[in-house]
Parts: sequence; structure tokens; C-alpha cells
Amino acid sequence: MLIDFSTTTNASNKANNGIQALSEFTKSVGFVGAGRMATALARGCVESGLVSAEQVLASDPSLEARQAFAEQVAGVEVFDTSEPILSRADIIVLAIKPQVMSSVLENLGSQIAEHQLVVSIAAGVTLSTITEALPAKARIIRVMPNTPCLVGEGVSCFSRAKEATDEDAEDVRRVLESVGHAYEVTEEQLDAVTGLSGSGPAFIYQVIESMAKGGAQMGLPAELALKLAAQTARGAAQMVLATGRSPIELREQVTSPGGTTVAGLDALAKLRGAEAFCEAVVVATRRSQELGRG
Ligand SMILES: NC(=O)c1ccc[n+]([C@@H]2O[C@H](COP(=O)([O-])OP(=O)(O)OC[C@H]3O[C@@H](n4cnc5c(N)ncnc54)[C@H](OP(=O)(O)O)[C@@H]3O)[C@@H](O)[C@H]2O)c1
Repeated sequence: MLIDFSTTTNASNKANNGIQALSEFTKSVGFVGAGRMATALARGCVESGLVSAEQVLASDPSLEARQAFAEQVAGVEVFDTSEPILSRADIIVLAIKPQVMSSVLENLGSQIAEHQLVVSIAAGVTLSTITEALPAKARIIRVMPNTPCLVGEGVSCFSRAKEATDEDAEDVRRVLESVGHAYEVTEEQLDAVTGLSGSGPAFIYQVIESMAKGGAQMGLPAELALKLAAQTARGAAQMVLATGRSPIELREQVTSPGGTTVAGLDALAKLRGAEAFCEAVVVATRRSQELGRG
């Protein structure tokens, strides 16, 4: 059976419209931790038609989290302990905070069956940490998603441990593509991914905030200035993605000598704005490397 992405609305599904020959996704996906990221992924998987609600399970000790998850992803089964997930899910997604990972892994290590794939989205928890806690043959994939997954516009990168197969990677890619885009990278690259697309939304929020502030300072109502700044960021990003042209080329196209844009870019250059954003990614990457070393 072909999966029909054409009736769905989120960004990833639009991105997937060209895919003709995806096989049916029959596996169950169980989330240990039913917080914001798990909810976004589960909703994406169900709304895109990748899985039915019956194929999704989640557990969380927090009643509030369970209720929010069940409200947003209608028809799924939600539990207060992880046992049903560990015993029933084909793909076990560890969507918990890094601080609780060791106790969850301890539990998982004694229960995991050979057919199960373990996927961790916990920031900074390395494949070797997970591998050491699980049986030698366990198949594990580590994912670095970003917050725009919550609105179906995410970009995630993933990396597999040596036992994980091509089919496992493809399954994870399909789950992640239900909330955006997904790329496989080496685990070493995940720190740079964390510094760029993981922390990056905050950097772009800073751009939006500062541009909106400038607009308000020059007479626009604050609310309108914020909308103009946010939509401008989105539109510019879409220009890069849709045209395939480099940011330099696109910038040159809108910069005429003596005009307004060049005056603004000169002000940015004087304040070393471009270098500052590059440095933000470098420093965030180094911090991720430090955190990974414990
Ligand atoms: N949000 C992002 O943009 C983002 C981006 C990249 C990576 N991540 C990673 O994704 C993971 C989840 O993030 P999130 O934002 O979804 O966090 P979250 O909203 O706090 O969700 C985590 C949930 O797990 C629950 N939990 C705690 N112990 C548990 C256990 N033993 N078994 C099952 N559930 C348990 C928590 O309950 P309590 O609140 O009661 O503890 C909470 O409801 C984190 O590791 C984070 O590093 C998130």
C-alpha cells in the first residue's frame, strides 16, 4: 500500500509529495516520556498517515503530560509506567530529559527484545552511553531534533550505532520527516548539528526580536513589527530553500548601490553582526562537545 501524503498539510508531507514507493509502516512506535517533543512526533506520525493512532503508545509519570498527549493525539494509548512501551513497541523512542536517562536505560536493558529499535532524542546522551546500558546486539539511533518540530517545520539529524540497520535508519527518517526534514550524520557531527539547528531557533528568535524592535523604534506598532520580522525571516529562509541560490547571491539581488538595504548591511558589518552569528554556532557546538564529555 502506498502512503498518501497528498491530503495532509504539514511541511514535511509537502516535502514528501514526490515519494512514490514507500512501503506500509506497520511498526508500533512507543514513546517513553510524553512531553512536548514526543507529542509533536506522535502527532506528526498520525496526522501524516504514516501510522494509525493504534500504532502509537506513550508513557509518562506526569498526569498533566499524559492528558496533554492524549488530547493532542486522539486515539493513542497512554500509560503511567513505561512497562507497556518496553514490552509492546517495535520502536521505542526515549523522549525524556537526559537526567532521567540512566534509570530508564537500566530498566530497558533487562527487557529489550531483539526485534526492538531504540531511538533516543535526549540531547547530549551519546550512543556509547546508551550502548553500554543495553545488550550487545541492541539497535540504537540517536536523534537531534529542534523545536520547530512542534509546528511541523523541524529539522532533525540522526546517527546510528553499529548494530542499527538501513531499515532502522529509514524508519527513523520517516518518523522524523512527519515533523519536518531529516538527515543522517556521523555522531561526531551531532555536536555541530546541536550548535546550528538545535540552538539555532534561539538565534533566529534573536534576529526577529531585534528587527521587530528596530521597526517599532521607527514608528510601527509593536505587534505589526513582530509579524513583519517573523514573516520576513520565514520568507527569506524559503527563498534560500526554494531557489537553491546562495544567501550571498540572494543578498546581492536585493542590494542596490546607495539604497536602503546596503545602508542596513553596512550597519550590520560595522557591528560585526555576521561574525557574531557564526561565532554563536561555533560556541554552542563547543558547549555541546563539552557537555558530551560529561
Ligand atoms: N524540546 C526541544 O526542542 C528539544 C530539542 C532537541 C532535543 N530535545 C530532547 O528531547 C527530550 C524531551 O524534551 P521535551 O522538551 O519533550 O521534554 P519534556 O516536555 O519535559 O518531556 C519529558 C517528559 O518525560 C517525563 N518523564 C520523566 N521521567 C520519566 C520516565 N522515567 N518515564 C517516562 N517519562 C518520564 C517528564 O515528566 P516530568 O515532567 O514529571 O519529569 C516529561 O513529561 C529531552 O531529552 C531533550 O533534550 C528536545
